[in-house]
Amino acid sequence: MTMSSISRLVDKFRWSRMGTGNEEQGFTPFKLKVMQLLTSKAVRAISIIALLVLVILGLLQLPSASFDRFWRNSSFCSSSPSHSLSPSAPSTPSADNFQPDELNGIDWSRFAYVQYVTNTEYLCNSVMLFETLHRQGSKADRLMMYPSSFAVDGANAEESRLLRLARDNFGVKLMPIEIQRRATSDVTWAESYTKLLAFNQTQYDRVLSLDSDATVLQPMDELFLAPSALVAMPRAYWLNFDDRILSAQLILIEPSKYEFSRVMNALSAATSNDYDMEIVNNLYKDSCLILPHRPYNLLTGEFRSNNHSDYLGNSEEEWDPEKAFKEAKFLHFSDWPVPKPWLSAPSSMIQDKQPKCQKNPKTGEEDDCRSRDMWLGFYSDFRQRRQVSSFVILVALLSV
Ligand SMILES: *[C@@H]1O[C@H](CO)[C@@H](O)[C@H](O)[C@H]1NC(C)=O
Ligand SMILES: *[C@@H]1O[C@H](CO)[C@@H](O)[C@H](O)[C@H]1NC(C)=O
Ligand SMILES: *[C@@H]1O[C@H](CO)[C@@H](O)[C@H](O)[C@H]1NC(C)=O
Repeated sequence: MTMSSISRLVDKFRWSRMGTGNEEQGFTPFKLKVMQLLTSKAVRAISIIALLVLVILGLLQLPSASFDRFWRNSSFCSSSPSHSLSPSAPSTPSADNFQPDELNGIDWSRFAYVQYVTNTEYLCNSVMLFETLHRQGSKADRLMMYPSSFAVDGANAEESRLLRLARDNFGVKLMPIEIQRRATSDVTWAESYTKLLAFNQTQYDRVLSLDSDATVLQPMDELFLAPSALVAMPRAYWLNFDDRILSAQLILIEPSKYEFSRVMNALSAATSNDYDMEIVNNLYKDSCLILPHRPYNLLTGEFRSNNHSDYLGNSEEEWDPEKAFKEAKFLHFSDWPVPKPWLSAPSSMIQDKQPKCQKNPKTGEEDDCRSRDMWLGFYSDFRQRRQVSSFVILVALLSV
């Protein structure tokens, strides 16, 4: 099983809470139903108990600062900058790693970080990623391709609020697009082709497409200055080395009319097992510029692995989780069977799957728990920023 099909499987657990859009319909019967429910003593007692349990769970799970915010602010997609990633995260990531001289004369508006969005849930992830790039002071434009069915100026819709938040607070340019769908073997990924519309953003000389189930640890502006290549990608280092598979989690593209038409032709010829990753691999396997996966494509699963030689690129070097974290710029959530960080995982699963503490050569004890602590930190950082709050769950519970 390839890692991409694994991450597809993981994605199957996506929470399909969003985007029903039917709230207005049947409002009065719904209200009545709720009133009847709430007046029933048994239900009231159960609700109170459930509420208490949730409050206690909330208190236990959330550090107090975010807990405060959670009651005052029901936004699950935080707009507030903050949160260093984990104990060893640089608290203020440097805006860039260049000498100012090198930057002179560069017109950054020719370049853009690009994200595609197909539903409200991924919209939220995308806004989070752009918030990070904004906070880190990345220089290139930020472009979000969003479904043209989302109204930017809608008064109440969650999508509208998030789109405006991205545009007004994080300097994101909004590009309405049509979602690219195909009948695929796995319906969860039927819309992943939408990513390929990045090839059509010819208003830019170069765009960097980033998957949104990830955390940007450092800006990657320097990639826009890489030697010219139609496409540049890192390898999927975690897959069989001999297959030389490219990872589509991060793609640096020089958009062009011709390339876009090639990609679209490949898309229409694709079989039901060819997803965006297969398409770019077929087209660019032999011509793409290879970006080093280290530091541009680290998986959270690396922190659970016992053998790091593929990631490190050699078998001499010792795995040092802090060093790996500090050098990495893009961290992708991939920990099958642990679900993506915006989904809830049973704590028994986390207990079972979290990285094991390693033997510490100094003490001889298994007390080197850095990998585990950092891994847990990646998840809690994401959850905190997204504010996957118990409030949302509570509302869902009461409206059943
Ligand atoms: C939530 O709080 C942030 C600042 O902490 C604020 O910018 C945002 O507008 C708030 N959202 C809502 C829905 O109140
Ligand atoms: C590609 O971009 C052009 C504008 O540059 C636009 O008219 C066209 O609809 C886009 N195609 C798709 C499939 O989004
Ligand atoms: C680690 O993996 C590499 C390649 O995947 C393999 O050659 C090596 O033998 C493995 N090391 C150990 C200790 O299993």
